[in-house]
Amino acid sequence: MSDIKHLAVIMDGNRRFAKRLMLDPTKGHEYGSKKLEQLFEWCKEFNIKELTLYAFSMQNFNRPKQEFDYLMNLFKENFTKFGDDPRIEKEGIKINVIGRYHLFPKEVSTIIDKIMEKTKKNSNFIINFAMAYGGREEILDAVKKIVADNKTPEDITEEYFSSNLYISSEPDIIIRTGGEKRTSNFLPWQSIYSEWFFLDKTWPEFEKEDFINIIEEFKKRERRFGR
Ligand code: FPP
Repeated sequence: MSDIKHLAVIMDGNRRFAKRLMLDPTKGHEYGSKKLEQLFEWCKEFNIKELTLYAFSMQNFNRPKQEFDYLMNLFKENFTKFGDDPRIEKEGIKINVIGRYHLFPKEVSTIIDKIMEKTKKNSNFIINFAMAYGGREEILDAVKKIVADNKTPEDITEEYFSSNLYISSEPDIIIRTGGEKRTSNFLPWQSIYSEWFFLDKTWPEFEKEDFINIIEEFKKRERRFGR
């Protein structure tokens, strides 16, 4: 067992994985989404209650049209599958999407709205998909909400500010696969005390052994929260 409540992942390297196998880059995303199903199982096994996944950044809107369309279709298929999966209700899984996903084509955002509505009361396992997500955008959206609510400077405590973000829960661990050592606009507010793990392996290559090694290493690191 672990005392990890919230794990987050920047799933990077899908296209490089595919290219190495001489496959179309979109195939990498297909392998990446399959890997997610394994990750859900590992989290269950280790009693991790919340998972936040960086699935599509604001910058990803600049991807070639063919890849963008492929990803939209993959999201549509996956969210439809979740909607039809009896395990979602049986196991009390909440599917949450954080980001400006209303910028996606209507047929994708509608499916997202539906699954979020359907699972919003579940709380055994929370999966946050960061989509059309950017950390600065999240902060700006919070500021806009606060201004629209006519709040005064005295109202704006850390707690209040944080409750206006897409999520306020803070990850214990953030994993980035794919070799880059950057945080790339992912959860800037929520990650200040997170333990970061950077792996050279691409996301589709991420295995249970890597997951377990990270958990073991996390337990060894002493988290002092600035004390
Ligand atoms: C980054 O790798 C990955 C993405 C932009 C897409 C991630 C999406 C998935 C894993 C599918 C998620 C499925 C659901 C249900 C939301 P990259 O394309 O930047 O790879 P590269 O670094 O090799 O170019």
